[in-house]
Amino acid sequence: MKIAIGNDHAAYEMKAEIVSLLKEHGADVIDMGTNGPESVDYPDFGSRVCNAIISGEADRGILICGTGIGMSIVANKFKGIRAALCGDCFSARMSREHNDSNVLVMGARVIGASVADEITRVWLKTQFEGGRHIIRLDKIRGLEKQ
Ligand code: RB5
Repeated sequence: MKIAIGNDHAAYEMKAEIVSLLKEHGADVIDMGTNGPESVDYPDFGSRVCNAIISGEADRGILICGTGIGMSIVANKFKGIRAALCGDCFSARMSREHNDSNVLVMGARVIGASVADEITRVWLKTQFEGGRHIIRLDKIRGLEKQ
C-alpha cells in the first residue's frame, strides 16, 4: 500500500515515528514534509497529500498537525477525500469500517506517540465493511457535486 504522509512543524517528530511504523508494516511511504521545526502552513502539506491520493500516486494518506483540526478541515475540502480525525482506536476502526476513511488525521499536541502508533496500526489493517455504508458514501459523493 502506498501511503502519503504530511504534517506541519507541530508534528514532524511524531511523523518520523509514524513513518518508521509504516515501513515496518511494508508500506510504501511518500513523505511530503515538513521535516523540521520551522513554522509552516498546514494547508500546504495537507493539500500535497490529498492531491497525491486523488491523482492515484498514493492509496491512502496520513496527516498530522498540532490538534489535527486544521488538517481535517483542509483534507475534507477535497472531493473524494474522507478524512477522519482520530484520538482513539475505536474511532480509527470505525472510520475504516463505516466511512472508508482514506486519510487518517491525528493531533501531535493531543495524543502521545504510543497512542498515535496504535491508532495507525488499527487504521492500516481495518477494511471497509461495504454493504449499507456504500449508500451513505454515495450520498456524500452526491453532496460533493452540489
Ligand atoms: C500550528 O501552531 C497549529 O495551529 C497547527 O499545528 C494545527 O493545530 C492547526 O489546526
